[in-house]
Amino acid sequence: MKNISVFISGSGSNLKAIYKSIESGEINGKIVLVISSKKCAGSQFANKKKITTYVINQPNIGKKMIDLLDKHNIDLICLAGYLKLIPSLVIKKYRNRIINIHPALLPKFGGKGYYGMRIHESVIKANEKESGVSIHFVNEEYDKGLIIAQKVIKIMKNESAENLASRILKEEHKLYPKIIKYFCEDEKGFKKMIPLNLGSDEN
Ligand code: GRF
Repeated sequence: MKNISVFISGSGSNLKAIYKSIESGEINGKIVLVISSKKCAGSQFANKKKITTYVINQPNIGKKMIDLLDKHNIDLICLAGYLKLIPSLVIKKYRNRIINIHPALLPKFGGKGYYGMRIHESVIKANEKESGVSIHFVNEEYDKGLIIAQKVIKIMKNESAENLASRILKEEHKLYPKIIKYFCEDEKGFKKMIPLNLGSDEN
């Protein structure tokens, strides 16, 4: 069974989705550590579920993170709305074991400054025909690591950024647990499966 750490900064809806999939036995893992960059709905949820939770927001947190991750024997780090850059110390030690979910089709609409509603507003403004969800390995740069899986969602005529955001978030809650499940089942096999083709919402 894999030990999972989830990093958050906000509402924690993906954290909840992962938690639920573990509870239902879908994922062969356990969330043993939550790290949050601030007190938020997600950290409250983690506290309620008695998951060891740390709010860390001071600069130079790399060493502190490594200590916590090592202490809890973490196999996989899932970024779920975590808004800070992961210290390079952590990337080096946990390379290929840190994944992130992003609510757009990377490499488009990713990188510094692309977070929250800004992403969806930019997608609509650019008249894109489709958007979606990307899950990728995390490296030293925002949203630049190897893409593991993407789910394409067709944008509807005159769709608002808010509507698109909520449709995408629903897909995130399905896709993230699925990918984590694959990783937990067979880490080596998982890497060989990349990139996973999940098709579009019409399939
Ligand atoms: C999600 O849209 C995720 O893709 C992005 O941040 C948002 C986090 O939402 N990285 P939540 O905190 O899981 O509700």
